[in-house]
Amino acid sequence: MIRLEAVTKVYPSPQGEVRVFEDLSLSLERGSQTVIMGASGTGKTTLLHILAGIDRPTSGRVLVFDEEIYGWSVERRAEFRNRKVGMIFQFFHLLKEFTAQENVALPLLIGGANKRQALARAEELLVRCGLKDRLSHRPSQLSGGEQQRVAIARALSASPELLLLDEPTGNLDWKTARQTVEFIKETIADLALTILLVTHSQEVASLFPRTLLLRNGALEALPGGGQEGQG
Ligand SMILES: Nc1ncnc2c1ncn2[C@@H]1O[C@H](COP(=O)(O)OP(=O)(O)O)[C@@H](O)[C@H]1O
Ligand SMILES: [Mg+2]
Repeated sequence: MIRLEAVTKVYPSPQGEVRVFEDLSLSLERGSQTVIMGASGTGKTTLLHILAGIDRPTSGRVLVFDEEIYGWSVERRAEFRNRKVGMIFQFFHLLKEFTAQENVALPLLIGGANKRQALARAEELLVRCGLKDRLSHRPSQLSGGEQQRVAIARALSASPELLLLDEPTGNLDWKTARQTVEFIKETIADLALTILLVTHSQEVASLFPRTLLLRNGALEALPGGGQEGQG
């Protein structure tokens, strides 16, 4: 469903340009689950931003169902991001002054949904995420694992097709991390979502069928998982 073709990314900087990757290609089939590993600074976050339509590559193409998203208008790309892409981050990025329910409703409100429906959908998602009794809690009143589940509910609120997770368990202990990943896998099992997850954890990667290593600006397939042959 989404494909990077010969993508190069160079950031200009006063100390000289930063060449993040060159001629990178990647194909994500609809409903596939892929992990990317790689040392800090290798460009994992940059890659997710390029896929989300947030950061334009220096050259190369990003195709969603064969359409080049960086050929679209800014508005069309913003709509793509809002409706089709869910993002989950290491530090949750929940808004402190809002309740769990309001945080989850926010993308729907931004997308133009009416408030009552957005809050009802948020409640439904939070119940599904096992947070029925936390609807009115603010982020500071929730544990790390609970905050990440709120962030997952928020990422799912607009029924995206692509879920991008940037070190989603990087801030959680292993037990909570494992529960969170299992929860993600259960929650998406019936949604036919395409997932790309960045992690430093070999244990987390082992829970997914396909792992790629980003190194020296290139992606290589890593053995392991192995239920899927695609590389
Ligand atoms: N907006 C930016 N401007 C300049 N350099 C950047 C910018 N964003 C990231 N970089 C550089 O690009 C490289 C890759 O960054 P990043 O994608 O955040 O790596 P990772 O997520 O793998 O740690 C790093 O060297 C970083 O310093
Ligand atoms: Mg990063």
